Amino acid sequence: MPIFEIDGKLWLLETKHQAYAIGFTEKGFLVNTYWGERLDNIRNYPLPRDHFASDSFDSEFETLPEEFPVLNGMKFVEPCLITRFFDGTRDLELDFEKFELDPQANFLRIYLSDSVYHFRVVLNFRVYEHEDIIEKWIEIENMDGVNDAIVKRIFSGNFCLGGEHDYRIIHTWGKWFNEMNISDDSLIHGKVVLESRRLTTSHHHNPSVIFYPNKICESHGEAYAISLGWSGNWKLVAEKNSLEKTRVTVGINDWDFELVLKPQQTFQTPPIYFSWTDQGIRAISHTFHNFIQSHLLPHPNKPRKVLYNSWEATFFNVNLVEQKKLAEMAAGVGVELFVVDDGWFHGRNSDQAGLGDWWPDAKKFPNGLQPLSDFVHQLGMDFGLWIEPEMVNPDSNLYRLHPDWVLHFDKRKQTLARNQCILNMAIPGVQEYLFEKIASLIEDNDIQFIKWDMNRNVSEPGWDREDGGSSCEIWVRYVEGVYSLWQRLAMAFPRVLWQTCSGGGGRIDTGIFRYADQAWLSDNTDPLKRIFIQEGYSLFYPALTMESWVTESGYENTPLDFRFLVSMSGVLGIGSNLLHWSDTEMKIAKKWIHVYKEHREIIQFGRQYRLISPRESEVSAIAYQNDDCSKGVLFVYNRKMESESQTVIIYPLMLERNKVYQFDGLENRQSGADWMQNGVPLVLSGFSALFVPYNML
Ligand code: GLA
Repeated sequence: MPIFEIDGKLWLLETKHQAYAIGFTEKGFLVNTYWGERLDNIRNYPLPRDHFASDSFDSEFETLPEEFPVLNGMKFVEPCLITRFFDGTRDLELDFEKFELDPQANFLRIYLSDSVYHFRVVLNFRVYEHEDIIEKWIEIENMDGVNDAIVKRIFSGNFCLGGEHDYRIIHTWGKWFNEMNISDDSLIHGKVVLESRRLTTSHHHNPSVIFYPNKICESHGEAYAISLGWSGNWKLVAEKNSLEKTRVTVGINDWDFELVLKPQQTFQTPPIYFSWTDQGIRAISHTFHNFIQSHLLPHPNKPRKVLYNSWEATFFNVNLVEQKKLAEMAAGVGVELFVVDDGWFHGRNSDQAGLGDWWPDAKKFPNGLQPLSDFVHQLGMDFGLWIEPEMVNPDSNLYRLHPDWVLHFDKRKQTLARNQCILNMAIPGVQEYLFEKIASLIEDNDIQFIKWDMNRNVSEPGWDREDGGSSCEIWVRYVEGVYSLWQRLAMAFPRVLWQTCSGGGGRIDTGIFRYADQAWLSDNTDPLKRIFIQEGYSLFYPALTMESWVTESGYENTPLDFRFLVSMSGVLGIGSNLLHWSDTEMKIAKKWIHVYKEHREIIQFGRQYRLISPRESEVSAIAYQNDDCSKGVLFVYNRKMESESQTVIIYPLMLERNKVYQFDGLENRQSGADWMQNGVPLVLSGFSALFVPYNML
């Protein structure tokens, strides 16, 4: 059983390999006594213990591993909850109220409450035993019948990393066009803060991170992984205090944040998904790939189609005649999904106008999009469309009708970015308008795929609330608005697949993958850069969600085969103008799309192995293999200039030692043990790539 309860004051949460234990000390503090390897015997888990002040400057809270520290008492650790009550008290005292355990659902709720101010905090835990994931989140409730409670901060949770180790953090950072760089840094005495204050997750830091003590590599070492399921402003604080205790708090960013809980109102935080391993980074990746696929993605088992996207081919210059020609060419090489990107809607000839007016431009599509959609369907492909629902250009009918719908401060000039403003997704009328427009597009044009974009960060985050609530809630209500619109659309059109995009990888997280099936990682499609972006992405996010297009970007250095092989390691797409491709190029495309379709099941649903990182060598390699190790594919990329061919040895992993394997193109048939010990010799010239399927005989 994954959740044990002992005497109503100790709870043990166990997955296949990890365990997380919480319980009340004698003094009544709820502490996290253990997070690490699952132990053989329940008696071996540490029991809750009270701590004591070390001197008059440092109270017991400096070392006490509180499960959910709130602001109170003489406490200087980062609190997860900061409240202000009607009489000015800014201190919360929580006592145990009750717990509920649902063994069927592996779900535990622990209720704590402040009896003076009638404020309740519920800690929720859900255990995914086989997936090695535990999820936790918080609910708060103002039970006062009369007074509001002000919440200045409400994080989703806190983690106390054990021992006196010097922990390090692995996370990804970047910017537009340069997302998902992996960094590995030590924690200092003091705080390391990662966050977004941009309204969305951001290109700059990703809220999925790994902490580790000592040393780590792909296959060895302890790792504590934490991922926040939230697509708005977020904050992660890792603090190592002077008593050598390391704590991590994570949740919705409290920057410019304030929540007013009216009498009887509740609020629920986004979830944190976490996992422990002693098997290195790869085990964390596998755990999250599997979990995201099996528990978050709306269409977990649907093979992702090879797509064509018109953006880099035509930019805003979209029209029926040319799109039809492109569709014909795309179908000819084996594309299965044809996506019309930006430029198709009313008044959209550049980035100056049109956003908000979500109906086909009558000049470009005199009879709407249906003739194109029919044409695409007749060619045997699905039809997809780009939208950017949250945005509006001042030069649009929507803005002229509803200037008040955008985020703004009445007496401040509005900052435009890419000539656009942000619609306030917290306003029900905005959601209604967008639902109606997007629903008719899907219905009228038999759409199977939507690319949902979001192309700027926030400014002037004002909101004239009609209910008199705090406008600082915008950071949360905006994201809830996006989620709720998306949810409504997903329920109305369950067969549509969705892509998350925010100028490339600005909104990628375990929150958005409850709605989106795949992601656009970056507007940078140069394969030499993409190899790195894709590696950073793969730390947490699965190849099944990793859309990657072959474009003209990087053509000076990398031949078309190379570009295909980089894109084939995720969800393959093409973004080039096929009307400009030669017969030879079309043949290459046809060949690789065919090969991809033959092997996509392993790439999209298999396990990924990062064999040689591009950060370590100019020759990098990844493999995908099915669960029973009977089949796999190797991708090898050589970023060296030299044109001389050279032999590189790639060491595969996790083959069955006693079974015989054959690698395509090599005559030897050798045991798994032999291949793993001596490697697979492959010949590569400069700027070239190889795709080598292998299988057990
Ligand atoms: C963003 C996306 C691109 C494309 C353009 C269209 O930059 O990342 O893929 O859709 O918008 O304007």
